[in-house]
Amino acid sequence: MKKIIIAIDGYSSCGKSTLAKQLAAKLNYVFVDSGAMYRAIALYFLRNQIDINNELQVSDALKNISLQFEYNGKTGKSDILLNGENVEKEIREMSISNKVSEVAAIEAVRLFAVHQQQLMGEKKAIVMDGRDIGTTVFPNAELKIFVTASIDVRVQRRYLELQATQPNISLDEVKENLVMRDHIDSTREISPLKQAADAVVLDNTNLTREDQLQIALNWVNERTN
Ligand code: CDP
Repeated sequence: MKKIIIAIDGYSSCGKSTLAKQLAAKLNYVFVDSGAMYRAIALYFLRNQIDINNELQVSDALKNISLQFEYNGKTGKSDILLNGENVEKEIREMSISNKVSEVAAIEAVRLFAVHQQQLMGEKKAIVMDGRDIGTTVFPNAELKIFVTASIDVRVQRRYLELQATQPNISLDEVKENLVMRDHIDSTREISPLKQAADAVVLDNTNLTREDQLQIALNWVNERTN
């Protein structure tokens, strides 16, 4: 079967990573969570008190950041390593969710991340999820999926997910964060979140995980046969 690039974009917490992980497992493709890269950069900036308005500080900081992915057999996805340290758990904390969109709007940060993402796609057979994958990272991807779901469903899903590790977070806090990130991500100047003209839309508000996988696999089949 022909190897392709699958680009999955959409708003915060609409199940992009779940779908990407399902597809990668089914097709034996590499799965890359591009958001984890921006989250790890935000973590480095926070830890090292980088002033995001200071271009020199930002570019110096980026020179000291090395990002890698390492497969985790327990979760079935790759964990992100920041300068060799597994920060997968820390980058999901609210302190990072509250900062990441500002960091991801910086031009130097985007150039840094997009370059690495493009290298990962050179051999195809990859599923990458994010905000600008179909528009900027892989504009020639054979399959582009734009995932959406109602805000209430997205908030509920993320709230339940966070309960395991951060039980003190309220539903309101989760909603506020999603709305804020969606706003910053879709209104920033560089590679804002938007549906690529040739993307297919998947609204999974009322779909089960199995349903959404089946729909996406049909699209994959259309493009690989
Ligand atoms: O999983 P969730 O929807 O919470 O977000 P994520 O994929 O972990 O991404 C976190 C943040 O990184 C987003 O809100 C964006 O600000 C940024 N991001 C981006 O700008 N471009 C991407 N390709 C992926 C993420």
